[in-house]
Amino acid sequence: MRVLIAGYPGQLAKSFISALTRMNIVFLTPPHYDFDITNNYQISSMISAFKPDVILNCAAYNNVEHAEEDMADAIAVNYKAVENLVKEAELHKIKLVHFSTDYVFDGKKNDWYFETDNPNPLNLYGKSKLAGENEALQYENSLIFRLSWVIGYGRNNFLYKFTNWIKDKQSVKVSNDEISVPTFTFDIAKYVLMAIDKDLTGLYHLTNSGKASRYELASKYTKLMGFTNEIVPVPMSAFEVPIRRPLVTAMSNRKISEALGVNIPNWEDSLRIYCNNIKNNIDLIK
Ligand SMILES: NC(=O)c1ccc[n+]([C@@H]2O[C@H](COP(=O)([O-])OP(=O)(O)OC[C@H]3O[C@@H](n4cnc5c(N)ncnc54)[C@H](OP(=O)(O)O)[C@@H]3O)[C@@H](O)[C@H]2O)c1
Repeated sequence: MRVLIAGYPGQLAKSFISALTRMNIVFLTPPHYDFDITNNYQISSMISAFKPDVILNCAAYNNVEHAEEDMADAIAVNYKAVENLVKEAELHKIKLVHFSTDYVFDGKKNDWYFETDNPNPLNLYGKSKLAGENEALQYENSLIFRLSWVIGYGRNNFLYKFTNWIKDKQSVKVSNDEISVPTFTFDIAKYVLMAIDKDLTGLYHLTNSGKASRYELASKYTKLMGFTNEIVPVPMSAFEVPIRRPLVTAMSNRKISEALGVNIPNWEDSLRIYCNNIKNNIDLIK
């Protein structure tokens, strides 16, 4: 199997590199400037030259707040580029793996979200990601995973940002009514590769097990890292939030767990592994 990865050096792409290296699978991870998924010429020449069996589309416009003003870019990367990837994948009979988000939901269900629930994104980022997953679903050999609160060895995650906030503050407020599932990139890579091996297609929610508020996640992380800051629980309404964000978006991983016959680890177990790894090698998040 030959795997072409878009979205390097993003945090998810990096975990695929580690997993594929361990498995001795041939892969190519061109950087953004060499493999811009909004550039049809680059997509088509990269595919013709490398001849992948699988494309992992880890590239995304992920800045939820900027997306409102940067609408054209968010739509180009999260939606229009997927249309082009689908065309190329169809033409060359390549499996296309694409990633979406819990932000396709409005958070009003107040219970676990399943794949059968109707999406209703509240912001431009969520709308662009929903349009992208719908494009990918048009292709019969695509595999789409909705992820939430993705945490990996990179900067585009809540824990990295939180570590920076608390550097010069003894006491930090964190929302306790924003609830989802912290999901670690090393787990995502493992189960995605199993799903490819089983030749699954269609839409799945891929999260760690359990759910948490931002406050619970921040508190457990602070404790595991040995920080002494005080974490104060507050409702999200205590912050000035410039855009609409859904509050409760925890997605059930039941469908993918049953399809693979696995129990996906609880987020707290994976958080422990993550903290140990960064404590042993701080360069992982530089
Ligand atoms: N992070 C989260 O909390 C979260 C939550 C739910 C779902 N997801 C989804 O999970 C997937 C992986 O995200 P991630 O957390 O790994 O994000 P990430 O760390 O921000 O990585 C995204 C990568 O995509 C690259 N990129 C942006 N535009 C591109 C383009 N036009 N062509 C090629 N590469 C481009 C970025 O490069 P530059 O830095 O150069 O722009 C970056 O390296 C995405 O589909 C994302 O929407 C993420």
